Amino acid sequence: MRRQLFSCILLICILSACSGLPTGQQPATPQATTVQKAPHATPTHKGPKTLRDLADARHIHIGAAVNLDALQHDHDYSRVLSDEFNAVTPETAMKFDALQPQPGDYTFQQADAFVNYAHQHGMVPRGHTLVWYSALPPWLQNGSYSRDQLMYILKDYITKVVTHYKGQINVWDVVNEAVDDDTGQLSDSIWLRGIGPDYIDMAFRWAHEANPQAQLFYNDYGTEWSSKKFDGVYSLLQGLIQRGVPINGVGMQMHMHTQFYPDNATVLQNMQRFADLGLKIDITEMDVLTSETKVDMPTTLKIQADIYGTVVKDCLQIKVCQSIVFWGFTDRYTWVHSDLHRDSDQPLIFDKDYRHKPAYDAIVQALKTP
Ligand code: XIL
Repeated sequence: MRRQLFSCILLICILSACSGLPTGQQPATPQATTVQKAPHATPTHKGPKTLRDLADARHIHIGAAVNLDALQHDHDYSRVLSDEFNAVTPETAMKFDALQPQPGDYTFQQADAFVNYAHQHGMVPRGHTLVWYSALPPWLQNGSYSRDQLMYILKDYITKVVTHYKGQINVWDVVNEAVDDDTGQLSDSIWLRGIGPDYIDMAFRWAHEANPQAQLFYNDYGTEWSSKKFDGVYSLLQGLIQRGVPINGVGMQMHMHTQFYPDNATVLQNMQRFADLGLKIDITEMDVLTSETKVDMPTTLKIQADIYGTVVKDCLQIKVCQSIVFWGFTDRYTWVHSDLHRDSDQPLIFDKDYRHKPAYDAIVQALKTP
């Protein structure tokens, strides 16, 4: 039942009127492994401060997921990204199918280009993600392996990837989306089927062995609601801590919607409950979908702005929340178009021409609030 994100939302409305992004907005095909060089912090500082300036002043991270194709081919994308953010997450370049497309054949070029870009621009890169049910290469997804073989494959992968980026990536989403939305139990995956529930403990231990300095996170969506999902994630984390598994934090993805969003008291309460477990909380993938809105666009964008601003304020209120990453930053490139097929959605904080949306201004206000 759980597989796709926003399953409940998608059931209500799946927009598939257009076949994809307008041609002029398609990310170019990936070829080069170099990235557009953007002069960091172009001399616009007489003007309003960027999100990055405000976040630096508060000693927090404000970031965006990076579309490598856009980074390599769209100069404006690269410039706005490095001006506005001090943290970055690779949208796809560090997933299993990207890093080990054939058995034993590791391909780090794209992920290395991402990490180099981050360091050249003084940004903190996040490793995303070591263990997930999705983005697996066909040889793994369709193969038939014994428990020992799967454990070997997973340990080898985690060890090689975390070691490759040791000293360069200090925060990892180790396990991603392992809890079922409806039941709160562990959800189906090749890892659960082939290894059993302790694959999660193993993954954290192997990541810790490979880089004891790294901050290790469990990352999931839907934990901002009062739900079986929250309860399931909470008890998973509680169990990990009780067993002495090396986990430092929980990523709350925060894929949200202008039409359905949780009561803010619930969001804060859930954050506080995670914090009370002794975990850090990072907002890891925030976007706010608009395409099922029942009201006019200016009103929708105002609601969207309120949601973004409120979540940023919530994070600032909880001491252990020190990183807010959006799942993209411009409506020109978003997984909501490419993966969720909601072609007219405008989920991010810059419009498709890189103009600030009301959400951007709301985040600025939140970051300026003492
Ligand atoms: C998505 C990417 O944005 C897409 O480009 C890709 O095709 C599929 O994955 N939760 C996560 C992210 O943890 O890794 C997902 O990213 C979005 C949902």
